[in-house]
Amino acid sequence: MTARRLDGKELAKVMRAEVAAKVAARARSGKRPPGLAAVLVGDDPASQVYVRNKHKACQDAGLGSWVHNLPADTTQGQLLDLIARLNADPQVHGILVQLPLPKQIDPDAVIRAVAVEKDVDCFHPVNLGLLVAGHPRYYPCTPHGVYQLLVRNGIDPAGKEVVIVGRSNIVGKPLGLMLAQKRTPANPAGGDATVTIAHTRTRDLAGVCRRAEILVAAAGSPRVITADMVSPGAVVVDVGTNAVNGKLVGDVHEGVGEVASAVSPVPGGVGPMTITMLLVNTLAAAETIDG
Ligand code: GUN
Repeated sequence: MTARRLDGKELAKVMRAEVAAKVAARARSGKRPPGLAAVLVGDDPASQVYVRNKHKACQDAGLGSWVHNLPADTTQGQLLDLIARLNADPQVHGILVQLPLPKQIDPDAVIRAVAVEKDVDCFHPVNLGLLVAGHPRYYPCTPHGVYQLLVRNGIDPAGKEVVIVGRSNIVGKPLGLMLAQKRTPANPAGGDATVTIAHTRTRDLAGVCRRAEILVAAAGSPRVITADMVSPGAVVVDVGTNAVNGKLVGDVHEGVGEVASAVSPVPGGVGPMTITMLLVNTLAAAETIDG
């Protein structure tokens, strides 16, 4: 591979130390630690790993962290009752309900039940609306992680052609919006880029991808982005987390490393950055709620 590695693990270490320093300073001034409550319904193994990693990251940075494990047959009413309790708990500044949820629970109803100041995932329609309007309360964690991974590696999307493959509510859609928006003091992660969102109905996906100076793979299919789809010298960010024979595999084929100028690895690229942005949002929530 000739491409530079965009190392999310290393950057996450640096940014988590920044969060930990701010948390320690708050403790010295007598403030309670920022606290995150994570809710996991059922026993999906991938979700269990994510929640465990989030819990450990919180503890390492000095944040309070509580994991609520609920059985797979939990009713929507039971989950909404727990969310109401967490909304009212002054120790809890951020609430994260791990998706996907079992089929008897409507994820939209659950997302809407989280208090907007505690919605550190930035999934609530009010918070998405603020993001659309260019006055975000929070940035969604994975898109913000992608943004920081680029900018802190000296890759500014401003003025560039960006192609995002994937239009999910969690990654493609909000990331496209962020990268297209004007960068302002109220919207510091506005990307000022020219953005194309490609998806399963896109004609000539390879041709569209070759237009990209920055290509973000968030399709959710293992190794779908191949070297012929990448313009020489492009920067490629891999958001894929696919389990293939028990191994974590990205959306980007290994051969892309011979064409691109930089590629983020899986694992060790966007994943650790997503968790870091969750810590950033939980600290911001504590600053809003407790001062
Ligand atoms: N499932 C996959 N990614 C995420 C995420 O960022 N947040 C939550 N709550 N669930 C997810």
